[in-house]
Amino acid sequence: MAVSPDNSLRARIDAELHALREASQLRSLDIPRGINLCSNDYLGLASDPRLKQAVLDALASSARIASGGSRLLSGNSREWEAIESEFAHFVAAESALYFSSGYAANIGLLSSVLQPNDVVFSDALNHASLIDGIRLSRARKIIYPHRDLQFLERALHENANAPGAKLIVTESIFSMEGDLAPLDEILHLAHRHSAEVIVDEAHALGVRGHEGRGIVASLPDRSRILAAVYPCGKALASCGAFVCCSAAIKDYLVNHARSFIFSTANPPYIADQVRAALALVRAADDRRAHLRQISASLRAALTAAGLRCSSGDTPIIPLILGSNESALRVAADLQSAGFAAKAIRPPTVPPGTARLRLSLTSEISHEDVHRLAQAIIAATSFLRDAPSPSLAHAVHPLARGSV
Ligand SMILES: Cc1ncc(COP(=O)(O)O)c(C=O)c1O
Repeated sequence: MAVSPDNSLRARIDAELHALREASQLRSLDIPRGINLCSNDYLGLASDPRLKQAVLDALASSARIASGGSRLLSGNSREWEAIESEFAHFVAAESALYFSSGYAANIGLLSSVLQPNDVVFSDALNHASLIDGIRLSRARKIIYPHRDLQFLERALHENANAPGAKLIVTESIFSMEGDLAPLDEILHLAHRHSAEVIVDEAHALGVRGHEGRGIVASLPDRSRILAAVYPCGKALASCGAFVCCSAAIKDYLVNHARSFIFSTANPPYIADQVRAALALVRAADDRRAHLRQISASLRAALTAAGLRCSSGDTPIIPLILGSNESALRVAADLQSAGFAAKAIRPPTVPPGTARLRLSLTSEISHEDVHRLAQAIIAATSFLRDAPSPSLAHAVHPLARGSV
C-alpha cells in the first residue's frame, strides 16, 4: 500500500530530529575523554583491578556465561539466589529480588504493586524509571513539588477517603539535583495517612550509610517502607538492581513483574561481580571520606566564585546554567580543558534549567578538583554579567510533571 510521504513515520522522525537540532536539544553518543565528571562510578570500582580479577575468576569457574532465559525458566542459578540473600542481609531487608537493570526493577515493581484505583504520590524530580513504572500501573498520580512536604501532606489529607491504597515514591538522593529526600518526614506522613513508601537508593548505595548500605537501612522505623530499590550500576560498578522487600512482596513480584518475568536473566558471573563489589564497597570508608571532602571543596570553590550549585554533601553537584546554549558552551570549554562534563538539557531537566551535572568519584584528586574549579570559573565568565538563575528559582517544581 502506498504511504503518503508527509504522513510517513520516517518524515515525522526527520522533522522531530530537525526540531531537536534547532533547539540545541539533539543528543548524540560520544565517548567521554579526560577526567570523567559524568560517571556514577562513585567509588572508582569500575577500573579496580580487584574487581576485574573477581570477574575473571568467576568466568573461569563458571559452567556457563549466559543464563539462557528468564529466571522463571532456565535463568535461575545458585549464584543469583545466594547474592539475593546476601544483599538483603546487607541492607537489613527480609528479601531481595534481582532485576536485570534499575530501570527494569522500577517499572516492574511499580507497575505490578499498584492498581488503577490506587493513588501514588510522586516527587516531581523522580527518575524516569519511577515515572514510567507509575505510568504503566495506571494508578492515579499526584506529583508533589520537589521535596515539598506541605504539598504532600495536603494531598494525602485530601485523598484520605480515596478508594485504593496510597503509595509515596521518592529517591533518597536525587539523581539530577544531588539533594536528599526528607525521608524521616515522609515516613512520618506515611504513618499518619496510612500510606506506604517506595525509595530508590540508586545514588546512596555505596556512598552513604554504615559500610555504604545507603540511607534506608539505618532508618529507625522502616515499617511503612514497602520496598527499596538498589541499582548496582553506580557505586557497585556492576549492573542490575535489587528490590528489597518482604518475602511476600518478592513472591508477588516473581509472579507479576513483567520486566522480571519476560526478560533474560543476567549471566550468573554477574552475581559474583556484585558480591566482590559489595565486599569492596563495605571496606571503602577511605574512598567515601575522600569523596565527601572533594565534593565539599568543589561546592565551596564554586560558591565562593558566585556560582550557584546545590548545597549539601553528595557527590552530585548540579551547576545550573539556564539556556541549552550556555550549558553546551561551558561543557565544550571544560572538555577542551580535559574534563568530560556533559550538558544536561530538557527534557531530562525542566526547561530553562540546562546544567552541568558534575558527578564526582573517589578517583578524582584534590588537585583535579582545584583545576576543575578554575576551569569552571573561566568557562562561565561570560555569564558573570547575567548571573545564572538560583537553583531554587531555576527548578520549577512541577516542570518534570510531564509524568
Ligand atoms: C535514581 C535512579 N533509579 C534508577 C536508575 C536506573 O538504573 P539502571 O541504570 O540500572 O537501569 C537510575 C539510573 O540512572 C537512577 O539514577
